[in-house]
Amino acid sequence: MLNNIANDIRFSRLQTGLQSKQDAQYPVTGLGNDLEMKDGESINTISILPLPADTKPRSKRQKTSKPPSAKKTKQPSSIKSHISVSTNDTPYPTVEADNVIFKPNAGPQTAFLASSEREVLYGGAAGGGKSYAMLADPLRYITHPQFSGLLLRHTTEELRELVWKSQELYPKIIPGIKWSERKFQWEVPGGGRLWMSYLDRDEDVLRYQGLSFSWIGFDELTQWATPFAWNYMRSRLRTSASDLPVYMRASTNPGNRGHAWVKKMFIDPSPPGEAFWATDIDTGDVMIYPEGHSKQGLPLFKRRFIPAKLSDNPFLTKSGDYETMLLSLPEHQRRQLLEGDWDVAEGAAFPEFKRSIHVVEPYAIPSDWTRFRACDYGYGSFTAVLWFAVAPDDSLVVYRELYVTKVLAEDLAEQVLTLEAGERIRYGVLDSSCWAKRGDTGPSIAERMILKGCRWRPSDRSAGSRIAGKNEIHRRLQIDPFTHNPRMVIFQNCTQLIADLPTLPLDKTNSEDIDTKVKNDHTYDALRYGIMTRPRSANIFDFDPSKQSRGQESFCKVFGY
Ligand SMILES: Nc1ncnc2c1ncn2[C@@H]1O[C@H](COP(=O)(O)OP(=O)(O)OP(=O)(O)O)[C@@H](O)[C@H]1O
Ligand SMILES: [Mg+2]
Repeated sequence: MLNNIANDIRFSRLQTGLQSKQDAQYPVTGLGNDLEMKDGESINTISILPLPADTKPRSKRQKTSKPPSAKKTKQPSSIKSHISVSTNDTPYPTVEADNVIFKPNAGPQTAFLASSEREVLYGGAAGGGKSYAMLADPLRYITHPQFSGLLLRHTTEELRELVWKSQELYPKIIPGIKWSERKFQWEVPGGGRLWMSYLDRDEDVLRYQGLSFSWIGFDELTQWATPFAWNYMRSRLRTSASDLPVYMRASTNPGNRGHAWVKKMFIDPSPPGEAFWATDIDTGDVMIYPEGHSKQGLPLFKRRFIPAKLSDNPFLTKSGDYETMLLSLPEHQRRQLLEGDWDVAEGAAFPEFKRSIHVVEPYAIPSDWTRFRACDYGYGSFTAVLWFAVAPDDSLVVYRELYVTKVLAEDLAEQVLTLEAGERIRYGVLDSSCWAKRGDTGPSIAERMILKGCRWRPSDRSAGSRIAGKNEIHRRLQIDPFTHNPRMVIFQNCTQLIADLPTLPLDKTNSEDIDTKVKNDHTYDALRYGIMTRPRSANIFDFDPSKQSRGQESFCKVFGY
């Protein structure tokens, strides 16, 4: 049976006309290879095609059969098709089977099924086809005799709907597959098993203690209030079959009790769709092998977030009825469920922040734009440094960030200077409390950085400056009626600022300010310090800054501020 999987894929690969080049490069030994290739490396189309209705071993047939030429791609009539996955822009001719039972929708659903990262979240708008894709994914491996999969919902009631859908789909695709109502499990004769189960309270993980799975799926991940279950189940992810990949897959809408941790784990670390090394959600650090391990210092595994939109699913958008219903929701829910927006949070201080408007792909900043930086320093917590450029229309571009912890002032100075090497930074503004002397001798944090050549001036500390700073951020986020653009955009690479800004809560007792008890306000403070320096673009009425004697000159001859 093992060969069935590989041969199926091989067979379909031959269909695409890729056989000679691909086979030489990737000998077909099982699914693992194919998944590697699906990651955009070289293969353009993969179809998991039919197991024949009869049970003759496929391996023999494959051995004797010659690769069909592009002309001979018509399916034998005895063959029932399986799943086909194809990426959009194949340069090769793709011949589709006319009896395909499941075909992923183009775009995110295909990307999800073709992902090769260890942990992948397919998350976003309602009705995008997320749960359906979760049902389809394990079918890719289920004929492998050692496949053991677990598909989880939060409660048994929610599980029912998934079971019904699987009952419609699975028997058509996998001949002979059997559902056991007693075990709540799908079994393929001579193949693998898929258990559909629930995990409600944290103690429920004990149901899975001692068991191992090569595929674990969580449908509606944000229903889990904490990452406990997800992390625990990772310990159950293993297989002794070298040709079976191990995967954790999740699908979900934004919102719900687990919104914040899911966002930190999958959405914040990287632009959507891009694979990234898994980070610790508390520190933001990439998780690495520990000291003494043979892979010491190397990252552990990769994650990926694939955003879902309703418009991706033609099966629900055709009539437009479902969209009409979602359009009638209050703004908060509408943004989450129709637009799949992860940045809306109840009580958020900056609800107007929208990734689609305020986050842009990095571009080369013209050398004549004024540049400056701002910093909120913290040794025990975090230090955030943001770099800004002022466009000719006076709008701001936050083009770089540095977010670090446990970094001494001198080391921070070095890091800042290295990052901005070759750039002309007009000034830097730093949290004014950094000028406070600690202990009775020695220079302050600010002075230690300035002595290293990293110059700063103190941030505005006047009464009301916090509120004024917040108001200025609101003004910057607004769309300018003349330019029709926001007055501030953030480069996509500033992932911490992009993660923090939409989640900062308003102070419940003073709606003029954000809640100062939150831990993740370092990028916000740096942003506030930066934009309150009243930056403006260099224009023809300005003097040449390099020749200016005042303005850029420091007040203090020793420390340069
Ligand atoms: N590739 C596909 N082929 C056929 N039908 C599909 C496909 N993808 C989705 N559908 C249909 O669209 C319906 C809605 O998809 P699904 O339930 O997966 O959406 P969802 O994103 O999980 O929605 P929700 O956010 O509400 O949970 C499915 O029940 C199925 O009938
Ligand atoms: Mg769903």
